Amino acid sequence: MAGWSANARRNGQSVGFVPTMGALHAGHAALVERALLDHGAVACSIFVNPLQFNDPTDLRNYPRTLEADVALLSGLGCSALFMPSETGIYANHQPRQYDLGGLDRFWEGPSRPGHFQGVVNVVERLFHYVRPDAAYFGEKDRQQLAIIRHVARSLRWPEHIVPCATVRDPDGLALSSRNARLSDAERAEATILHMALRMAGELAFRAPVQEVLDAMSGMLARSSIVAPDHIGIVDEDSLEPITEWGVRRRAVALIAAQVGPVRLIDNLTLEA
Ligand code: PAF
Repeated sequence: MAGWSANARRNGQSVGFVPTMGALHAGHAALVERALLDHGAVACSIFVNPLQFNDPTDLRNYPRTLEADVALLSGLGCSALFMPSETGIYANHQPRQYDLGGLDRFWEGPSRPGHFQGVVNVVERLFHYVRPDAAYFGEKDRQQLAIIRHVARSLRWPEHIVPCATVRDPDGLALSSRNARLSDAERAEATILHMALRMAGELAFRAPVQEVLDAMSGMLARSSIVAPDHIGIVDEDSLEPITEWGVRRRAVALIAAQVGPVRLIDNLTLEA
């Protein structure tokens, strides 16, 4: 892949990269389309990274839809697909412990021990093989994005990290490969995550932070299927929980919840 990128650069093209774990949906397509706007050559990777799964059942059941993924990528005009094997990508590599700047202390971090270290290890390997100029990540995984940006900045990785807006179904549910595992009833109830975030958007900066959190919890409690794991209102850079609005004009509301067999996460930027 490094040879492919070098060749693209020799032809005067910069290289955009969209790392994925497959089971591609319109959210991934939006990342590829954005990368194609910015670069002459765009590579995508599909690799279900065992290092980032702390739950073996989740790894086993992670949706795999290779044929449809390849059709989607070629329809979009993606120029290269990198599909490493586990032994290939981690050959001559000892997983290392990165300094995540404490960004893993909250939210997904405690619920998924080792997850973010696994993500950063694979992203470093993928960048090592693909050598892109820029890589595109969805804001749905807000904490993952903050951690990758932190590591890229602190280790002076040359790749530019580009955040992309969350893509949603018309009823507001954030697109996720894991949505495919929801039953019809679970899928219908899962929209309550977005309803709770929208409620936070309406109340933010007008009602006290605790009241907004209570309103979000109250909304989620209406469902007997959705079991919240965490709800937070946080600083958009440090991801530290905030307790007062003070003079701030922006914050982020976050939710993680178990819905049937699937753990869903979503977030919304709150603006005054
Ligand atoms: O967001 C994902 O799909 C994965 O965490 C990533 C960035 C491809 C690393 O495996």
